[in-house]
Amino acid sequence: MSTASSNTLLFFVNGKKVEVQNADPETNLLSYLRDKLRLTGTKYGCGGGGCGACTVMVSRYQPRTKTIFHFSVTACLVPICQLHGAAVTTVEGIGSTKTRLHPVQERIAKANGSQCGFCTPGMVMSMYTLLRNKPQPSMEDIREAMSGNLCRCTGYRPIIDGYRTFCQEANCCQLNGTCCQNRERVPNGEEHNGLQDTPQLFDKGEFQPLDPTQEVIFPPELILMAERTSPPETLSFCGERMSLLSPGSLEELLELKIKHPEAPLLMGNTHLGPSIKFKGVVHTLMISALRVQELFAVTHTPEGVWVGAGCSLSELLSLLQKLISENLPEQSELFRAITKQLRNLGSLQIRNMASLGGHIMSAYPNSDLNPVLAAGNCKISLVSSSERRELPLNQEFFVSFGKTLVRPEEIVLSVFIPFTTKGELVSALRHAPRKETAFSTVTCAMRVLFSEGSSVVRDISVYYGGVGATTVKAEKTCQALFNKEWSESVLSQAYDILLDELVLPPSAPGGKVQFRRVLTLTLFFKFYLELLQKLKHMGWISGEVPENPLPLPSDIQPSVQHFQSVSNAQSSHDAVGRPVMHKAALSQATGEAVYCDDMPPVQGELYLALATSSKPYAKIKQLDVSAALQVPGVVDVITAEDIPGQKARMDFGYNEDLLAQTEVLCVGQPVCAVVADTKAHAKRGAAAVRVQYEDLPDPIFTLEDAILKSSYFEPSRRIEKGNVTEAFKSVDHVYEGGIYMGGQEHFYMETQSTLVVPVGEEREFHLYVSTQWPSSTQVTVAETLSIPSNRVVCHVKRLGGAFGGKVTKAANLSAITAVAAWKTNRAVRCVLERGDDMLITGGRHPLLGKYKVGFMNDGRIVAADLEYYANAGFSADESPLIAEKIALHLDNAYNIPHLRGFAVACRTNLPSNTSFRGFGVPQCMLVVENMITDVAMKLGMPVDKVRELNMYRGPSVTHYKMEFDAKNLLLCWDECKRRCEYNARCRAVEQFNKQNQWKKRGVAIVPIKYGIAFAESFLNQAAALVHIYKDGSVLVAHAGAEMGQGVHTKMQQVASRELHIPISKIYISETSTGTVPNTCPSAASFGTDANGMAVKDACQILYQRLKPIIDKNPEGSWESWVNTAFFDKISLSATGFYRGPDTYMNWEEVEGRPYSYFTYGVCFSEVELDCLTGDYRTLRTDIVMDVGRSINPSVDIGQIEGAFIQGLGLYTMEELKYGPSGVLYTRGPSQYKIPAVCDMPLSFNIYLLPDTDNPHAIYSSKGIGEPSVFLGSAVFFAIKDAVSAARADSGLSGVFSLDSPSTPERACLATASRFTQKVPASKPGSFKPWALDI
Ligand SMILES: Cc1cc2nc3c(=O)[nH]c(=O)nc-3n(C[C@H](O)[C@H](O)[C@H](O)COP(=O)(O)OP(=O)(O)OC[C@H]3O[C@@H](n4cnc5c(N)ncnc54)[C@H](O)[C@@H]3O)c2cc1C
Ligand code: FES
Ligand code: FES
Repeated sequence: MSTASSNTLLFFVNGKKVEVQNADPETNLLSYLRDKLRLTGTKYGCGGGGCGACTVMVSRYQPRTKTIFHFSVTACLVPICQLHGAAVTTVEGIGSTKTRLHPVQERIAKANGSQCGFCTPGMVMSMYTLLRNKPQPSMEDIREAMSGNLCRCTGYRPIIDGYRTFCQEANCCQLNGTCCQNRERVPNGEEHNGLQDTPQLFDKGEFQPLDPTQEVIFPPELILMAERTSPPETLSFCGERMSLLSPGSLEELLELKIKHPEAPLLMGNTHLGPSIKFKGVVHTLMISALRVQELFAVTHTPEGVWVGAGCSLSELLSLLQKLISENLPEQSELFRAITKQLRNLGSLQIRNMASLGGHIMSAYPNSDLNPVLAAGNCKISLVSSSERRELPLNQEFFVSFGKTLVRPEEIVLSVFIPFTTKGELVSALRHAPRKETAFSTVTCAMRVLFSEGSSVVRDISVYYGGVGATTVKAEKTCQALFNKEWSESVLSQAYDILLDELVLPPSAPGGKVQFRRVLTLTLFFKFYLELLQKLKHMGWISGEVPENPLPLPSDIQPSVQHFQSVSNAQSSHDAVGRPVMHKAALSQATGEAVYCDDMPPVQGELYLALATSSKPYAKIKQLDVSAALQVPGVVDVITAEDIPGQKARMDFGYNEDLLAQTEVLCVGQPVCAVVADTKAHAKRGAAAVRVQYEDLPDPIFTLEDAILKSSYFEPSRRIEKGNVTEAFKSVDHVYEGGIYMGGQEHFYMETQSTLVVPVGEEREFHLYVSTQWPSSTQVTVAETLSIPSNRVVCHVKRLGGAFGGKVTKAANLSAITAVAAWKTNRAVRCVLERGDDMLITGGRHPLLGKYKVGFMNDGRIVAADLEYYANAGFSADESPLIAEKIALHLDNAYNIPHLRGFAVACRTNLPSNTSFRGFGVPQCMLVVENMITDVAMKLGMPVDKVRELNMYRGPSVTHYKMEFDAKNLLLCWDECKRRCEYNARCRAVEQFNKQNQWKKRGVAIVPIKYGIAFAESFLNQAAALVHIYKDGSVLVAHAGAEMGQGVHTKMQQVASRELHIPISKIYISETSTGTVPNTCPSAASFGTDANGMAVKDACQILYQRLKPIIDKNPEGSWESWVNTAFFDKISLSATGFYRGPDTYMNWEEVEGRPYSYFTYGVCFSEVELDCLTGDYRTLRTDIVMDVGRSINPSVDIGQIEGAFIQGLGLYTMEELKYGPSGVLYTRGPSQYKIPAVCDMPLSFNIYLLPDTDNPHAIYSSKGIGEPSVFLGSAVFFAIKDAVSAARADSGLSGVFSLDSPSTPERACLATASRFTQKVPASKPGSFKPWALDI
């Protein structure tokens, strides 16, 4: 039978009908919204469903139940062809600054939940969808809805606090009529209401109420369409490379499947989509089964339930939850185990899209669902045009990696999930690198049938994922347990059998082999405990049973943000010191804010993609671009030969080719660039470039190797105070240790982006770039094109995050793009794919720190000798400066009388690392603090005492003879101890640890002293240009680039004070080399200090010009004075300039003043560690920070929280994985885990030190962008403390090594439990590791 077919796709976007003829199946909703509909509010962050930046709401009408479903999806994974009959709502569709803001947009903005704003529309849409379904959500609902949305700036606290206001639960504000955020803790642990004294960051009273009746209605046309009873036609779409058929009936689908057995069935596209995008898989034909009703049927039977294979995982979850509530607990054991796995599988968006059948058929080795379905005796119903059959979902079903027993012409129609019977217990567990939205490392499920009234095993089934190529059954273990009592002794025999049958070779893909093997045991042990508890509960066993540890806590508590309010005497016009909302927050929350890639295309614009090296160290023998030129749409290929000017950038005497010329020095180095009419064509062109290489010998990847071969970028830095060698002779103890610390990916949500537009005459170019340093981009482009700088204007509207990664690397990318624009004489745009960005642009330097420390019995450190080796990658970039900053910060907060340091950047064959928030200091200080921890452990002293004893006090001198006053450092320390109730916390932790064997808590408190300003004096300058227009409005331009840190907001506040006008009259449009030339980078936490002074200068000049007019007419308005000035021929435009501090460092004399002043802070953190899996939760964090007199407390607190969470990621979870030949594996959020909502401390409190002054910076403020990254190490040390408690239970005491990041893998293995001891690590050198510690 054949049905009529149509190639018209119909769906709605924001209430408007969209009809597309012959849509390309490869076009996803994200690119359609952005490129075709010009709805650029929805952002591209990763393209793989892993970041949530592209979240939109999809609504569908279900004719059977006559209901409308709303669900969030990641638009990057939704092919538009799957949207027939659906309504899409984007951030633009719910509210705007021009009409009416939606409360969801308003609250995230006003609660300071939007910094760079790139994640904000996605956050807004996740929350909006939740409210459409549940106008009064619980905190748990909010947490779940936001779990798939990543933010790299805020640390999530303000987002949660903003959205908490929608929730009606008791833990939200106004509990007992008192705002919980106003309850201030005092030292004795009591709380008192400080409502009158405590200023708030935002006022809830200002928020518009949520009015569900105002929402956009579901298009009636789509309801009519869905209700239509005529046989649905097959939709047919034919794109450039792929076609898609979407039949409307099962019969038609099966017919198509017979004709095209090789065509995959397209459902949620969460497996097919990433394989097409990231692995380059091409399917000439796909068949969509989304419109086939039979695949969504749910049939209940007395034995269980048949669930249609097309049902989404979210639908499955709701169905099972309903069944659990309707059936006896003993019948729902399997349902409960499945729901537990489902809740943690992917993000809500993924679960809304992914189908049950698609999940099973994807047959991931570490699938969360397949082990529990298999252990639970589930089966599937298969159908083809000639046959129907049922297959058990068991070990045999999963044939090999990604393969099952299903025949090509068959489809999975439904899945049977049985009820459990009395005595049948089921449990499922998973462990993943991040608590939420992360594929499991190991996952497993167990079903045991016990003999009635006893603990004898009558039947048992145990399945694992993540320990082989498929879902596997632990068959021999099951046999060994059959007919046995459920007891510890039987279990201990099972461990050996488990290890024996679940073999993982040491070089197994995915690495973490020892850990995965430990997890097979510890998860099994958890099952054992869980089932024991259940048996006890059922009364089938008696006596004491060991406790089953509770899951880690997850309830987010209200937090405290404590800051000083401005004095009552301050003019209401004067915005300085007030928690003013980020100036662009509302534009960001409505999707109106324009980022580089949101700029409309210039006519004739081309797109650029880079072809990169696949070799770590090789000669280029031949570069063949002929195939690339044949790719449809490709216009040209740019090689090094096309560069008219400088082909390389020179740093510290070392060259870095813009495009490789004769040799490549790392995998991922740009070799050439392909320009084409579209992004897709450019990418295909780049993939078609062929390079013949001749390998060069002995590439260097690891720091050990670089040290062995003295492969360094000079200058290295040596520094010494006192006489270290002599001092070692007179101390009570000498200890030598060290720590390795992995690098970090910037993971700014907006990838590197640039648009180069040739103006067409006089070799003039306009650039729209996402850069922290517009002037450097201007100069690099000018030098590359061999034109004067006055022909290049660099515009920066805003950046979607940068964190140091867009200082130098942005210039290189712009220069390559400019060559393409030069050669083709057309505008060229380049926006790096997330994977390319991660591969090419480098990140934070991995570091090896070694130390020798001499100390006394009482804990005084007398001498320390520290060595630092930073992995710089293949080019120098800023690495020698990073080594320098390390050498200058190796004292941190401690006055060590004899101190020696050596720091060097190592040259390796890896991508070139660059500046990253903190510029080496976060790595450097971890080493110092680890050394202090070792000293404490050696002496058996509390580590906070050792810190206290050695801390700078009062007027002090650094190891490079810079004088400073450490008073505020100590104030922060004391205040933090008081705020966190340190002693009480320690006692509580000790108590907890005594009572718990498998969970331990740990605490840590760490200080920081951070130098502000550039050590290179010439960079301490800034300029500003301020215009007053005739209507009184003011336009400010300065050198700072707005990247979320709120520099524009602060500059408005400065101008407001100096001009005595409200900030509403002041506007900042962009940062441009055309208005403010020769700028310095927005970096080193110096942006506000420098630009603030320049803006102040310009405003003061203007105000002085207006002063006589104001004095003459004091009652006049601002507008009248400005108007008078204009008619008096007084210039209403002025430049301001700031000549910053003359910092210097004389390395020969080891003497200098490389910083203007120090910012101090102290952080306390407490964690709870699950010793069996290494998983942890930060229970509480309290930070006290000396930011002087804050210009904007909401911005400063935002910087502190965001940097802390970035530090938490750095020290405890973010792991870059490089293969043995230097290939970066971790190229997206699926493999590289930055902190998500689930990682924020459950109680997260920030206190700004009151009553402090700083004579060195504007209005007595202090730079704050970078220092708190290091404070994230408090979580690292708290984990170490918890591990130490676990080791103590195993009889181990004293120093032990824990490298950074202290991932669950490292933490679990460091506990040295009886499980880890069963799995010795493979001998290094005896195998080729899957990944290197570089
Ligand atoms: C960001 C992200 C995070 C994720 N996190 C997790 C996680 O934490 N844990 C986890 O286990 N999984 C995770 N996944 C995987 C996810 O669960 C699967 O990709 C998903 O279930 C596949 O379903 P789908 O409908 O999207 O399949 P599609 O991509 O549409 O199809 C996948 C395959 O299944 C076949 N297929 C689909 N339906 C049928 C059918 N009815 N009959 C026969 N063949 C069929 C197709 O031919 C295709 O080969 C994640 C995925 C993403 C993108
Ligand atoms: S861009 Fe779609 S989830 Fe990241
Ligand atoms: S504000 Fe969330 S990524 Fe910048």
